[in-house]
Amino acid sequence: MPIQNNDFKKKILQRILKSKKYKYIHPPTIERILDSLSTKYEKKTLEKEAKRKLHQIWGAYFSRPNFSKLLSKIKSEYQSGKSREVILRELLMLQTSTKERLPIFEEYYEQIFNITDIPESITEYGCGINALSYRWINHDISYTGFDVDSELIHFINSIFKLFDQNESAKAKLGDVFLFEEFRPADVCLLLKVLVLFDRQKNDSSLDIMKAIPAKFLVVSFPTKSLGGVDKGMEENYRKMFYGLISGLPWNVSEVIFENELVFVVEK
Ligand SMILES: C[S@@+](CC[C@H](N)C(=O)[O-])C[C@H]1O[C@@H](n2cnc3c(N)ncnc32)[C@H](O)[C@@H]1O
Repeated sequence: MPIQNNDFKKKILQRILKSKKYKYIHPPTIERILDSLSTKYEKKTLEKEAKRKLHQIWGAYFSRPNFSKLLSKIKSEYQSGKSREVILRELLMLQTSTKERLPIFEEYYEQIFNITDIPESITEYGCGINALSYRWINHDISYTGFDVDSELIHFINSIFKLFDQNESAKAKLGDVFLFEEFRPADVCLLLKVLVLFDRQKNDSSLDIMKAIPAKFLVVSFPTKSLGGVDKGMEENYRKMFYGLISGLPWNVSEVIFENELVFVVEK
């Protein structure tokens, strides 16, 4: 029987928000997940299923540092003369996808902008720590990254401020399923997030891509699993992506990196 009892859901929400692992997730995101699962699961299993879903969203991608300690350490290192670039490189090592891009960030954005031209504005949804690759994007471009991780958003903005980038670069708390409207931009980055969005809501990624008001969408997929094994992922994601957008009048270019397949879509 679907769970209608809101007090019961609120109690679960409070418990999840107290848990070490999930306390920084945007509460409306947890509420949304509880609502979607409560039509399928009984009271007994709802909390466990919600945590399982939350783990799928990002448990696997991130060994979480203590962000407030890390920020104090960075501030003192920066004051003692450590360069921005070295600090950013160390931070980008924190997540697997940014760690993989680290040796190629310059080339990564250069190849994308060869197709899109240098944009004036960029948005990024599910940005994670990739927001800190702004240094390699270009300082004149206005950048807004959105994510559901409140602590990460705060940390990224503190780094933008420390490095005087906060006029043009910002991170904001935002769930792609809860926007009334997406922010317009020349280029929108959706890096390694489509599968995650579909896992949260079946077949949602095409609707999200259609709804985003950007001239170009940059959509990427991993071509190696987290364990580093290539299981024909490139070909599978290519088939999946062209199937997804078939029939739409979108121009697609591909950029292929060692660990990532990137589609640049002109809408
Ligand atoms: C696999 S990481 C990818 C990070 C980044 N795009 C990259 O490729 O380096 C996925 C990110 O999406 C965020 N995320 C998951 N679901 C989201 C949602 N519904 N709305 C916004 N962000 C979301 C997670 O918090 C996480 O930071």
